[in-house]
Amino acid sequence: MNKHTNTNLPNQQRDKPTSSDIRKNRLMSGDRPTNDSYVIGVYQGTMKARLQAQDDYEVFIMSADYHAMTTHYDRTDQIRHNQISLIRTQIALGLDPEKVVFYRQSRLPQTFRLFTILGMITRMKELEKQPMLKEKLAQGHKLNFGLMGYPVLMAADILIVDSDVVPVAKDNEAHIEIAKLLAERFNKIHSGKLTEGREVLKVPEGLIGDVMIGLDGQGKSGKSTGGIFFSDSADEVRTKVMSMYTDPNRIRATDPGTVEGNPVFIYHDAFNENKAEVEDLKERYRKGTVGDVEVKEKLYQAIELFLTPVRERLGELEKLGDDCILDILRTGEVRANKVADEVIGRVIEAMGF
Ligand code: TRP
Repeated sequence: MNKHTNTNLPNQQRDKPTSSDIRKNRLMSGDRPTNDSYVIGVYQGTMKARLQAQDDYEVFIMSADYHAMTTHYDRTDQIRHNQISLIRTQIALGLDPEKVVFYRQSRLPQTFRLFTILGMITRMKELEKQPMLKEKLAQGHKLNFGLMGYPVLMAADILIVDSDVVPVAKDNEAHIEIAKLLAERFNKIHSGKLTEGREVLKVPEGLIGDVMIGLDGQGKSGKSTGGIFFSDSADEVRTKVMSMYTDPNRIRATDPGTVEGNPVFIYHDAFNENKAEVEDLKERYRKGTVGDVEVKEKLYQAIELFLTPVRERLGELEKLGDDCILDILRTGEVRANKVADEVIGRVIEAMGF
């Protein structure tokens, strides 16, 4: 693991606070709206960090609609629909629209100016080796210019709002490294050109979360690989849990089983708050004194305990309609644009254009 990688929220302290600098640290994150719901695994990925940060950080949450176009360029209606739905889900999960700044990537045009500028200092070999590219190509997506430039646009998203901390799941870790690299490279090229000698671009810290495995124990959980979604009904959750993979070498309930790497226990660890129950199940599973059905039944109950209140709030928010979410976005976009104007101002000043 990289020495800059960290998995805890850093202290609420900027490097060099000055009197004009009393602001909360900014935590920024976002998602591609390629689906109308999240798999519940995003909770471990970045959602927990977003929720925990609400009081101590200024939290900026962006819906990456242009990033969604790297693969869904012919489905912009779907992207627009999905983005409303995902913002709504985050509010149902507990992100408070009174505190959190929600905005659409497409409504922050300064991002695309910075994207072009950063593109000039990005080397092709740095983009060719991004791990996510291989994954997208394997899924059958065409290698377009946008997909190749994905990390540069993501760097622009992060840097345009002076982000201090950026929670992402492990599969986005390499992108954070590129964002840091580009910020440092830009600052080096243009150092000393600003009055007061301050850094032009804020170099962010990544906060790396887990990627939840699929229900079949393969790859990451998602639409194609199987996953439980916040939008699933109790019946759908039950069916999915009951069909989850367990220890492939265990034939009968009386065979000793393996807990490590076993999807059912990975989900228990992630979602079952009753840790004593989980330990008991693990112990009996190892000894061969518990059947898969009981382990799964208890997992289903635990996930339902987690999902039920979210589902209720989601239903209430749906009744309020899309306009309610659009209003939240418009308010957030005023704030985000103010920050982005400042940053792009510094960038252009440093370049002397
Ligand atoms: N790449 C992220 C994802 O896989 C989405 C994203 C785009 C993002 N820009 C970002 C995340 C900036 C954090 C910060 O969903």
